[in-house]
Amino acid sequence: MNFVVVGAQWGDEGKGKLIDFLSKDVDLTVRYQGGNNAGHTVVVDGKTYVFHLLPSAILHRKKICVIGNGVVIDPAALLKELDELRAKNIDVTEKQLKISGHAHVVMPYHRILDGLRESIRKNKIGTTGRGIGPCYSDKVARCGIRMIDLLNPRILKAKLEDNLREKNEIFEKVYSQPGFEFDKIYNEYLKYGKRIAPYVCDAALFLNDAIDRKKSVLFEGAQGTFLDIDFGTYPFVTSSNSIVGGVCSGAGVPPTKIDKVIAAVKAYTTRVGEGPFPTEFATSLKDEIRAKGNEFGATTGRPRRCGWFDSVLVRYSIVINGITELAIMKLDVLDELKTIKICTAYEYRGKRYQDFPLDFEVLCKAKPIYEELPGWQTPTEGMQDFNRLHVNARRYIERLEKLLKVRIKYVSTGSRREDTIVR
Ligand code: IMO
Ligand code: MG
Repeated sequence: MNFVVVGAQWGDEGKGKLIDFLSKDVDLTVRYQGGNNAGHTVVVDGKTYVFHLLPSAILHRKKICVIGNGVVIDPAALLKELDELRAKNIDVTEKQLKISGHAHVVMPYHRILDGLRESIRKNKIGTTGRGIGPCYSDKVARCGIRMIDLLNPRILKAKLEDNLREKNEIFEKVYSQPGFEFDKIYNEYLKYGKRIAPYVCDAALFLNDAIDRKKSVLFEGAQGTFLDIDFGTYPFVTSSNSIVGGVCSGAGVPPTKIDKVIAAVKAYTTRVGEGPFPTEFATSLKDEIRAKGNEFGATTGRPRRCGWFDSVLVRYSIVINGITELAIMKLDVLDELKTIKICTAYEYRGKRYQDFPLDFEVLCKAKPIYEELPGWQTPTEGMQDFNRLHVNARRYIERLEKLLKVRIKYVSTGSRREDTIVR
């Protein structure tokens, strides 16, 4: 059984916890897009780990983790993650981690350019500043540097020279910033290459071969459907395909080898960075839920914007990802609320929208239409049995299931692995 876990909202849906939980039953876990803009939190034995590039299954010592070609890799960030694990006595061997030689490399000029572009934008995206957009831009512009290039000094030299010729002009003339020195980057990245070399392979061949040998694979989405470069709230999105379609191009595994798609959604909604968010709370509730749900970015520490569950949004996600099962995360964060709202449609200039609107103006100005349900006002934290949930909590889940027309198989009631209901 090979399956994909995607985020159905704006990222931070609790994918890390869900993937850690589900990966106990699979042989391999694969990242297929995004980079260290992701922050996937896993809590095991009272210890909290945040993964940015490494797949969230990395704590399962006997499982294999793969970073696919669709991921953009900042080698310094990757090595830092590996070193931090080593400091906790978790040594990731070359048997346990495979990295695609096709994956593109985040270079220092990508990181700087990310910040400079943001600084001159009137409508800021609120990127994570990790160089993700500029790195993917270079990939598409055909001047990117790939992981395999770090292992070949001659190729790296030629590509880096070409890049700096153009980039240094841009830095100096457009942004009035100093350019980059070839030797410094070249030597630094050759060193990274040496350290990462044992993990580098043709990950697509490796994965397809494993699947042919009946191994099971979990594909770990980063970001969420509404941050997808094509289907998200463009231009307030990330630069990759975070929807299920990204698996085929980002891991080299064909759709005929994928059996099902699970989406993670929060029991409410959050967003970090700029862009439209129809069900966003007014300030007081925002503060309350942010504090209760610890809604601060796992990558940048920025406070997340919070709002009610939006079924218009998630329904769209279910359609374009072909979701077969849903996991509702962080239900316990709503425990204290007297009433809980669910957005079931939008309204703009007298017109009702049941489907996610195409027009950006509608999306930005639409008024959400809510239905209101009674809260349960009893603790659900740590619960593992659906039938023991307060009747109002069960009703909330069942109402979501009905609105979304998909089975809710998992309900998360806390950050620990075991705080999970399987229905
Ligand atoms: P995980 O995998 C939430 C957001 C940024 C910004 C936009 C573009 O933890 O769910 P980028 O740096 O990618 O160019 O920023 O996307 N963003 C995320 N928001 N969760 C994430 O990842 C995100 N990765 C990027 O805040 O709005
Ligand atoms: Mg996150």
